[in-house]
Amino acid sequence: MAPFIPEEKIAEIKDACNIVDVVGETVLLKKAGKNYLGLCPFHAEKTPSFTVSPDKQMFYCFGCGEGGNVFSFLMKQQGTSFPETVKLLAERTGVALPEQRQTPEQKRRLSEREAILDLNDLTVGLYQKTLQRDPRGQAARDYLSKRGFRPEVIEAYRIGFAPAGWDNLARYFERRGVPLDVAYKAGLVAPRRQGQGYYDRFRERIIFPIANHRGKVIAFGGRVLDDALPKYLNSPETEVYRKSHSLYGLDIAQAHCRAAELVYIVEGYFDAIALYQNGIRNAVGTLGTALTNHHVRMLRGYIGQTGRAILVFDSDDAGIKAAHRSIEIFAREFVDARILVLPPGHDPDTFMTKFGPEAFIEKAQKAKGIMPFLIDAAIERHGTSMEGRIKTLGDVAEPMAAFEDPVARSVYIKYLSERVDIDEAAILEKIRQMAPISASGSPQGQSGRPGAIPTMPPKISGGSRLERQLVAMMLQYPDILPEIRKQNVVALINDPALRMIGQEILGERDPGSQHNEYSKEVSPDDVRSIKANLSVQDENWEYNGCLGLIKQFIASKSHHAKDDLEEQIRQAENDNDFNRVAQLLREKNDRAVKYDKLKMEIQKRSN
Ligand code: UTP
Ligand code: MN
Repeated sequence: MAPFIPEEKIAEIKDACNIVDVVGETVLLKKAGKNYLGLCPFHAEKTPSFTVSPDKQMFYCFGCGEGGNVFSFLMKQQGTSFPETVKLLAERTGVALPEQRQTPEQKRRLSEREAILDLNDLTVGLYQKTLQRDPRGQAARDYLSKRGFRPEVIEAYRIGFAPAGWDNLARYFERRGVPLDVAYKAGLVAPRRQGQGYYDRFRERIIFPIANHRGKVIAFGGRVLDDALPKYLNSPETEVYRKSHSLYGLDIAQAHCRAAELVYIVEGYFDAIALYQNGIRNAVGTLGTALTNHHVRMLRGYIGQTGRAILVFDSDDAGIKAAHRSIEIFAREFVDARILVLPPGHDPDTFMTKFGPEAFIEKAQKAKGIMPFLIDAAIERHGTSMEGRIKTLGDVAEPMAAFEDPVARSVYIKYLSERVDIDEAAILEKIRQMAPISASGSPQGQSGRPGAIPTMPPKISGGSRLERQLVAMMLQYPDILPEIRKQNVVALINDPALRMIGQEILGERDPGSQHNEYSKEVSPDDVRSIKANLSVQDENWEYNGCLGLIKQFIASKSHHAKDDLEEQIRQAENDNDFNRVAQLLREKNDRAVKYDKLKMEIQKRSN
């Protein structure tokens, strides 16, 4: 990454934001000692090992080894480049960045994302105005009011209307000097098949803006006012819109999901909106696509470790299909998911209108877990004849194998065993056949199974325990730094990454140093991860203890050095190289004197 943003600016941005707040927006954090703990957004885990240190402004996951500062967190989470991330945080913190020197590629990507987001904003405004005030919006206004949607709710979701006609939006952009190739990249217009120019993607449709969790509009959906097909038209994926990472209404629902530790997952735009209008504000829409592990991980960031997701479906069949598809994701992400099936012919929107929110909540409270739901549905379908029971076992063995949590799995095996009257051991055997990975208890990396997420071993940093402790102390207890400098302790560190971090802390090395300054054995990622790890360890340092640690460290080095020297002397004697023997003996003596002096000095100071 080209260092086109001045170091002071980066420091200013870092100072202006608190990593706990930034991470806390998407990961539920709880205070634990000096630090904050939560479920890691970067790997599947059941108990929190993701640590954020407000003192150090660093994060580190003891489960997967991911770690760093606020920039690396956002880069990893959003998939943005360093310059993009700096820019984003600069905007949020109100730090003004100077005009930047960027590579053409950086400039293109950065400005393309920005241009698309700007254009989306402009488009939302226009479509909202058309829906609210334009005579051409009358039919849409009538349609929405006939369906019972109130103005304040329409406003909250920024719903709009794209009037009939091929190029209303394209001409609006032209009048404002917006290049249409950018509008094309935003998915708002498409090139005409014949001749020149572009035409509007959305025509005579009610427009639903799709926002990211920060409320930035990243895409659109549009519904016809009649029975024309397709009923809904959606934006294509663009530089800012990835379907697998987006949930409709998340910007509105997130705070409520957090407060309730519960999220309703519905299918449609109007479903999420209808729940909202009826006071159930913790609902998001999948918009007809399959739920991904990104979605689940995102939601888990709001509902937390003990939270619950309720998947709402309009029929048993839809529920069964989705349950089969998503159980592995929920099981692997350790999210408690329930299935709520509405009465035949109803979706959340029509259910609300007919039965009201109390009836909905009552149903939600009775919603079954995915596994019991699948077991009951299979029994319902296959009956309790001998063949039926075997078929049931065949249907549910595979989803059951998705549970790595032995407790959850054994509970389900027991439940199934009772329901179909098949021996628990036989069920377990069947599951083992289905799941070579989970049944063995240890994941074997990427399997062919969809959605299988291998558990990563934490990156283990080098260096002895003592060396790591020493550097942790330097990171966490700056009072000791003068002593470290004076004793030249850092030079004695063997591990190259730890030594590098030590030099950085003392200011002997530029923390933003370029790749080529790193030796072959150390990557910048290693340094970042190790530093984050050592920064968040919760220890109470005090001065004398620190001096003791330095003493211990130096003593251990002197032993090592002595052993090493003695080995060399033996070698030289064997080779009959007496000059070298004499030289080594002198060295040994010098060192002994030097270390004795060091030890005495430290002793004096700590008394
Ligand atoms: P539904 O067909 O259940 O529609 O599709 P709906 O949400 O209940 O809408 P209304 O009440 O009839 O107006 C569920 C979701 O699937 C996606 C949309 O996101 C829709 O909300 N979908 C459906 C499409 O993307 N394209 C389609 O043609 C149909
Ligand atoms: Mn509907």
